[in-house]
Amino acid sequence: MSTKAVLITGANGEIGHGLVTRLTEKDPSLRIVAIDVHPLSQTLRERCHEVIVGDIMDSSLLDRLAAFYDFGTIYHLAAILSTKAEREPVLGHRVNVDGTLGLLELAARQARATGENVKFLFPSSIAAYGLPDVPTKMKAGKVKETEWLDARTMYGINKKYCEDLGRYYNWYYRQIDPQPTAAHVDFRALRFPGLISAVTLPTGGTSDYGPEMMHYAAQGKEYRCFVPESATLPFMVMPDAINALLTLEATPAKNLTQVVYNIGAFSVSAKDFYDVILKAFPGATVEFRPDALRQKIVDSWPADVDDSLARREWGWRPEYDFRRSFEEYLIPAVKQRYAK
Ligand code: NAD
Ligand code: SER
Repeated sequence: MSTKAVLITGANGEIGHGLVTRLTEKDPSLRIVAIDVHPLSQTLRERCHEVIVGDIMDSSLLDRLAAFYDFGTIYHLAAILSTKAEREPVLGHRVNVDGTLGLLELAARQARATGENVKFLFPSSIAAYGLPDVPTKMKAGKVKETEWLDARTMYGINKKYCEDLGRYYNWYYRQIDPQPTAAHVDFRALRFPGLISAVTLPTGGTSDYGPEMMHYAAQGKEYRCFVPESATLPFMVMPDAINALLTLEATPAKNLTQVVYNIGAFSVSAKDFYDVILKAFPGATVEFRPDALRQKIVDSWPADVDDSLARREWGWRPEYDFRRSFEEYLIPAVKQRYAK
């Protein structure tokens, strides 16, 4: 008999840290199988049933997992983020698209074998959007899920395509088979804004300037910001991102009319970050020295998202606005982290 478990890919990443911790706080008996190309920290390892240091592209590894486990839910977090994928587009495509396809197939196989739906939680991104220029972006304001979908980065294109793949596995998989399977992949995607964690530092992303500015200031390090003061994106703190994943996972399928949902918390400029960080760390040194090429990517992402669908269908509501994020979560936690 297979062992019931939850699969988390990319478990050593920023979201993985938050998710493994929160899931096991909620249910210490939950069996988590974690995969990452990098070893997990000791504290995360202790919370997992099995930890695999391996590549999601390794099909024999996925076969072995399918043989031993019965995954009711898969959180597929492993990815190459936007800046890194722009530097290595073929690698980005392989991991972000082929890697996701392999996991969707694993989920479909499991659904066939067990006769039960497998929930597949996929973190998509505001990178799925592509706006042509800053005036259009600022005029567009809160974009809906179906608007401005001309992604301009390899990462954004990968995310958008994986949303479509997920929709296919959810609604149309093997649609001309005369004998439809009893169960399917229950794919659910969130288009996350830029995420900010107090306990981990981002790597390889383009929204990294926000969290980097804060972590550098807390360590007394000078920060060179690669976007101008006016650059504006939607952001969210990690506790809200984890809430969103867990709430969407727990929502009955009958309540959901879509497979992709925007979620928002607050929209801020790089100057807004600077002001709040300078207040908390008066000695902070931040030099705005825009990198025109990376700035173009930020300029093509929306200033804000319309998350009314998520609010209506599964009760999404962020707990942290901009002020509360910094005053009650980020600043106290990073001060404590770097005081050690
Ligand atoms: P992260 O870079 O911190 O974590 C990704 C993890 O995936 C890393 O630990 C990495 O080692 C692992 N990984 C990469 N390639 C792998 C492979 N081939 N096999 C196994 N593991 C591999 O990123 P994150 O912030 O934790 O993001 C998690 C997910 O959320 C990603 O899909 C990302 O695109 C998405 N997302 C993140 C943000 C954000 O601002 N952090 C925003 C929107 C969406
Ligand atoms: N925060 C991510 C990045 O910058 C967007 O998904 O790559």
